[in-house]
Amino acid sequence: MTSTGLAATAPAIDHPQQWPVYDGQAVARATDLIRAGRTFDYRHGPEIAEIEQLFADHLDGRHVLAVNSGTSALLAAYYVLGLGPGDEVLVPSLTFLATASPLFVLGATPVLCDSGSANGNVTVASLAERITSRTRAIAVTHLFGHPCPMAEIAQLARERSLALIEDCSHAHGSTIDGVPVGTFGDLAVFSIGGLKLVSGGMGGVLACRDTRHYDLACLLSSFRQRSNLTVRDPALRRLADVGLGGNLRISPVAAVLASSHMRRLDALVRAKHDNATALVAALCTHPGIEGLGVAAGHTMGGWYDIVLRVDPLRAGFDRDDLVAALKRHGVRAGVPQTAPLHRTSVFTGARPPTWHAYSPATLRRRFTYAPEDLPVSARLHDEWISLPATYFNEPQEDLLGAYRRAAERALSDLAATR
Ligand SMILES: Cc1ncc(COP(=O)(O)O)c(C=O)c1O
Repeated sequence: MTSTGLAATAPAIDHPQQWPVYDGQAVARATDLIRAGRTFDYRHGPEIAEIEQLFADHLDGRHVLAVNSGTSALLAAYYVLGLGPGDEVLVPSLTFLATASPLFVLGATPVLCDSGSANGNVTVASLAERITSRTRAIAVTHLFGHPCPMAEIAQLARERSLALIEDCSHAHGSTIDGVPVGTFGDLAVFSIGGLKLVSGGMGGVLACRDTRHYDLACLLSSFRQRSNLTVRDPALRRLADVGLGGNLRISPVAAVLASSHMRRLDALVRAKHDNATALVAALCTHPGIEGLGVAAGHTMGGWYDIVLRVDPLRAGFDRDDLVAALKRHGVRAGVPQTAPLHRTSVFTGARPPTWHAYSPATLRRRFTYAPEDLPVSARLHDEWISLPATYFNEPQEDLLGAYRRAAERALSDLAATR
């Protein structure tokens, strides 16, 4: 022990490869595509049809378009709703930037909303207070995999004639009363890229109720062959020769990799649940450290992040102390990367060089959020720690054991220094 009572050296913890991890069959399918020169698909080949069908089956038969990222899927969602200059869209402050930023391209205005519940999600109350006569849509994010209260939010959207978009990028497999998120709104978006539970490396999925939304998204994403094949409305299909200005196509290689995760979504969700609840329990032995809880009737799917709250008054140390103590014992703890947007550049007054789609009047109106404007999301984020969820998508007995022992040591170090 050092003079501060802390262990001088902690044993290193061996970490497995970080997600995304692919099984032999997925690697073989991807390799076959590469060997055959089939790394792109302008038509609607079996690999793209497969990932779309897997999502359609999961989402009660919604029309599904696979694209090259979650950000592109969000852009397509806002585009097909016809959003543009003067239109406001309610967006949580606590979300990844891409829930809001595609609106800049269209010239529509994201209006940031505060968290209304301890898990960081927006609620009817925190959304309703930001509705104006210009509000056209509500976008919600099921943060870290926690479903938002969708029955109430869908009712608000209906009452106020607003479109409803679910960003499910953290929440593959999350449910409310057995019904998967992504089926409550008019449109749903899933990132299937990066560290997500279902990941093809890069990719995204748009799911819609309305065939017109699907047709427009198809035309935006895939001019010519694919649109000729899959746009339903003959009048819109006539536009396939030019499309609507985008190329958002997914690679078939990404599609087969993502399909391999989607096919075993239930097993991944089970493993993640077991691992995450064990990790949360290992730290919640100390007063003032608590998990975010899961509402009655809700289940967590993606567990995109494993987040705990530290109440400094009850714990006797703060979030940063706990992160540092865990790191000293080899735990890859940190602060959740998903942080309040109202503390980021564009929303606090920085202006991009040109915003072509913005009218001069809108351009003069900078976003000037202050931290205290959305106090709940700011406070929550300042008290949260995050454990590296992406190592825990499959059974991990050894790593779990090592993390439990490290958590015990970290907490006893902190107790010794109080
Ligand atoms: C909530 C949320 N929405 C959208 C995205 C964007 O997805 P992508 O990285 O596939 O563009 C992400 C990515 O992390 C996300 O976390």
